[in-house]
Amino acid sequence: MLPIFEKKNINMVVSDQYISPFDVLIANSDTLDLLKTIPDAVAELIVSSPPYNLGKSYENRQHFREYLGFQKKIIEECYRILKPEGNFCWQVGNYVEKGEVFPLDIYYYDFFKFDLNMKLRNRIIWHFGHGLHASKRFSGRYETILWFSKEDNYIFNLDPVRVPSKYPGKRHFKGDKKGQPSCNPKGKNPSDIWDIITHDFDTCLWDIPNVKSNHPEKTLHPCQYPIELIERLVLSMTHEQGIVLDPFMGAGSTLLAALLHDRRAIGVDKEKEYFDITKSRINELKNGTLRKRELGKPVHQPTGKEKVSQMPDEWKKEHKQGTLL
Ligand SMILES: C[S@@+](CC[C@H](N)C(=O)[O-])C[C@H]1O[C@@H](n2cnc3c(N)ncnc32)[C@H](O)[C@@H]1O
Repeated sequence: MLPIFEKKNINMVVSDQYISPFDVLIANSDTLDLLKTIPDAVAELIVSSPPYNLGKSYENRQHFREYLGFQKKIIEECYRILKPEGNFCWQVGNYVEKGEVFPLDIYYYDFFKFDLNMKLRNRIIWHFGHGLHASKRFSGRYETILWFSKEDNYIFNLDPVRVPSKYPGKRHFKGDKKGQPSCNPKGKNPSDIWDIITHDFDTCLWDIPNVKSNHPEKTLHPCQYPIELIERLVLSMTHEQGIVLDPFMGAGSTLLAALLHDRRAIGVDKEKEYFDITKSRINELKNGTLRKRELGKPVHQPTGKEKVSQMPDEWKKEHKQGTLL
């Protein structure tokens, strides 16, 4: 069973324009309409996964160039809202047309770098173990987060997101520190490849009939990212009470990541259904019923004894005969 989280005193404001004070401000409108009401230089972190133009239920598929043009307007508006020391994290995968793959980060990079003059600090690979199986190319198992900063003195705190060292007992073998422990006692840098599961799949996979009912984070939203993915960004790139903005909030995962760590948050989604999901998830956090994976919990490694990790009996005979291929 996953842990429950509670933050009783959250001041949730529902408004189509920016008004302060708030702990979390949510809007059910077009993103540009809300963004235009937000003052300059208030947000410490802007983080989102924009629509990928894949024709999901919430988007009309546009010509690829038109899609990028619309995104550009939103990113420019977000740039205005970002503080000089702020960070901008854009989480994207691929746009696919007639079987051809267009890696969105490549297209977005040009815009952030050459139009806005922002500086890339990391291209984080978010690797996950599950997903659809492709038949005409290799199955996609990662997406990326482009992390840009506006200026060189950007906010970055490594300590809150360090992970346990693999070999904490390692010692210096030469020099002044010979014989002393060589690892950082606070843990190591988590690197730019993040193994964060898409759902709480590892906790439920072993109980297949109950996957759905056991699923603590998954909502009806088709492209939700895990709260844990964003917690790492929030903890390393903002201060307490700093504002985190998600211009495409979906089911509100970014906002929850911010609120869980005493940051303030602003989010907007044009779809009433997703707006309502966000609102009820924030209420779950307020009344102590929000379940999610603990930050930094290792991904489950099968022991080989679980039924689902064993070869089905029907295949064993064919394997022996070498006829399965
Ligand atoms: C990829 S999803 C974001 C999912 C989110 N990261 C989560 O974890 O739930 C993109 C969202 O953008 C919203 N959206 C698309 N175009 C929009 C627009 N012009 N204004 C506001 N929201 C928009 C969609 O309804 C969708 O929920």
